[in-house]
Amino acid sequence: MNTDTIGNLSEFSPLEVDFRDALLSLYRGEPQRGADGLLYQIDETTRISVAEGMTLRALCLENGVTSSLEVGLGYGFSTLFLLAAHVGRGGGSHTAIDPYQTTDWHGIGATQAKALVNTPLRSAPVSFEWIDDCSHRTLVDLERMGRAFGLIFIDGYHRFDDVLVDFYLAQRLCQPGGLVVFHDMWLESIQAVTSFIRHNRNEFSEVTTFCENICVFRRVADDRRDWSHFIDFPHPKPSAHLLRHKQEAVKLLHAPVDLRVGHPFGAH
Ligand SMILES: C[S@@+](CC[C@H](N)C(=O)[O-])C[C@H]1O[C@@H](n2cnc3c(N)ncnc32)[C@H](O)[C@@H]1O
Repeated sequence: MNTDTIGNLSEFSPLEVDFRDALLSLYRGEPQRGADGLLYQIDETTRISVAEGMTLRALCLENGVTSSLEVGLGYGFSTLFLLAAHVGRGGGSHTAIDPYQTTDWHGIGATQAKALVNTPLRSAPVSFEWIDDCSHRTLVDLERMGRAFGLIFIDGYHRFDDVLVDFYLAQRLCQPGGLVVFHDMWLESIQAVTSFIRHNRNEFSEVTTFCENICVFRRVADDRRDWSHFIDFPHPKPSAHLLRHKQEAVKLLHAPVDLRVGHPFGAH
């Protein structure tokens, strides 16, 4: 969620024209086509910002990521930036997990992503897969299948224990040198998870970006902690600047019901 407006259209200029058009339409809040072919109004807060999206794209490109995974597809803002990165580097695959894609989001994210991937003139081999199940089950399934990813974006349900479980299961799928990215650093729950990682998971080294609302870790080693390892960790409060995101969330919760689409993070 964010308060950013589209701002400068030139921000999208590195993207292929069809991704640019799709993202511009989403950021303008235009009605979007759902899985049933009908147009739906979208709520204008459930999304990553343009800067966050371009950062995800840059992380993919700069780190040669060929396979990405995300928890929380929603309307597909982050998915489109990640797919755009795969197109930009000449190919790649993206997997998105979301059990509420059809019920809460009308299938808009998956519909957009499939349409862009299946564009007939697309020269880069890019694939998209949506898994219609909860992250805690799917991440285990993916490990059983032997899948691994170069970038994992965690933006699903945002309570502390949900995010910690997402991280624990997702980091097992993270390739050596791969990245795990958290969204919504304005939430104390996410701050607490990232603080735990910083203090307890030395095999993850933090990567600095210009976006304060995301937090990025790179897997630089294997987990060699002994069975009783635990280092207490502080619970930093989000900065006053980050808390502007909270004001947006509160505004949304007081918005008319048809704009709420359940809850900003898909309440269940
Ligand atoms: C903030 S939205 C994601 C926005 C998306 N990343 C974007 O940029 O457009 C959070 C998403 O998490 C999904 N979600 C909630 N609980 C989940 C779970 N247990 N597993 C996977 N996804 C979940 C919701 O349905 C919702 O689509």
